[in-house]
Amino acid sequence: MITEPANIPTHVAVIMDGNGRWARARGKPRNAGHRAGVRAVRATVEAAAERGISYLTLFAFSSENWRRPEQEVSGLMGLFVEALRREVAELHRNNVRLRFIGAREQLSNGLQHRIKAAEDKTAGNTGLVLNVAVAFGGRWDIVNAAQTVAARVARGELAPDDIDEADVAKSLQLGECPDPDLLIRTGGEQRISNFLLWNIAYAELWFTDVLWPDFDKQHFDAALAAFGAKQRRYGHTGEQVEAAKC
Ligand code: IPE
Ligand code: IPE
Ligand code: MG
Repeated sequence: MITEPANIPTHVAVIMDGNGRWARARGKPRNAGHRAGVRAVRATVEAAAERGISYLTLFAFSSENWRRPEQEVSGLMGLFVEALRREVAELHRNNVRLRFIGAREQLSNGLQHRIKAAEDKTAGNTGLVLNVAVAFGGRWDIVNAAQTVAARVARGELAPDDIDEADVAKSLQLGECPDPDLLIRTGGEQRISNFLLWNIAYAELWFTDVLWPDFDKQHFDAALAAFGAKQRRYGHTGEQVEAAKC
């Protein structure tokens, strides 16, 4: 009997939400929730690599998260530095290519330096591509892309009427990656919170009440199973999609 290969997404994006509520439920400070969230990141990266996902994009800190109390922001920044110090060697051993997306010039020099070092060290790896979004906002990304395209127009390389979707798409932070097929959000909220706006035009959305520090491989597999059961129509009819399979 011929079994069809499982319908695995190429690119999974994750809004890792619920750390603060996880900590509050245990009478701990919010930063304890962020620290506990690192375990779930490790489990998710492992699961993605094991399941044959090619691209994993994690939302770690949004352009709006700068509005949080100073103590929480500095705790998070310290955690990013610590996580890079602890995890990069292992990621490199596992052939993971690490990339950061976001307004990195807003980060401390020390963090920028570690990010660059991690990207350079893993640049030649051919396994999972792991994009970490820090100081990232979907609108910021589109504005940036608009500036890049406008600069090409100003240089006379491109006529305004010739600007097409591909010109914008390749100027985005994830310009070299295919669009996410599946977007997971933990923590119970069903919103995008200014994550990848352009790129998720046709992503399947999967929401769970599980708080990020509790998220594990079983939850990841549940999201993959839900994805596998979807028919992706991209505007076609279901019948057209079925007919194209034969
Ligand atoms: C997500 O968890 C992590 C970041 C936004 C940095 P939260 O800190 O938003 O957790 P909740 O939503 O307050 O529970
Ligand atoms: C989204 O979570 C950002 C990250 C997970 C990094 P938030 O907790 O910041 O989202 P809102 O404010 O509830 O929409
Ligand atoms: Mg939140």
